[in-house]
Amino acid sequence: MSEILVINGPNLNMLGRREPEIYGRLTLSDIEKITQSHAAKIGMKCIFFQSNIEGEIVTAIQSVKDKYDGAIINAGAYTHYSYALRDAIALTDKPFVEVHMSNVFGREDFRHKSVISAVCSGVICGFGENVYTLAADALASIINPVKIEV
Ligand code: DQA
Repeated sequence: MSEILVINGPNLNMLGRREPEIYGRLTLSDIEKITQSHAAKIGMKCIFFQSNIEGEIVTAIQSVKDKYDGAIINAGAYTHYSYALRDAIALTDKPFVEVHMSNVFGREDFRHKSVISAVCSGVICGFGENVYTLAADALASIINPVKIEV
């Protein structure tokens, strides 16, 4: 069974009470349960992590190098300017899928730029809480690719 880390950055601990018209009414703990039950069906174990502190997120990202097969990351606002997160992802040599619950491209200009996308395998955004299960499927397709005969 592959093991992945699901990293959540600043303010995501407030899901459920944070701007529900944008982020919905589910808490991070609800999303954790939904994602873990979906992941189990595709042979994946998900460990959730959340911090509001940049350095703690850097340390969590570094832990992926030796302990996990890959990661899903919602870096919150750090997405848009943290080169420290970008460098940490690059050093892991493991696949990362960047997620955003909201469609960042339909929002303020500062959210259109991500400094971490270039070191992630791909980005999923705009599908609310479903971005986490979609990202688990995407990561599974990278970790255990299915050979398709054509
Ligand atoms: C977010 C989008 C970011 O711009 C914002 O700062 C967040 C959440 C999302 O999930 O849509 O904190 O990453």
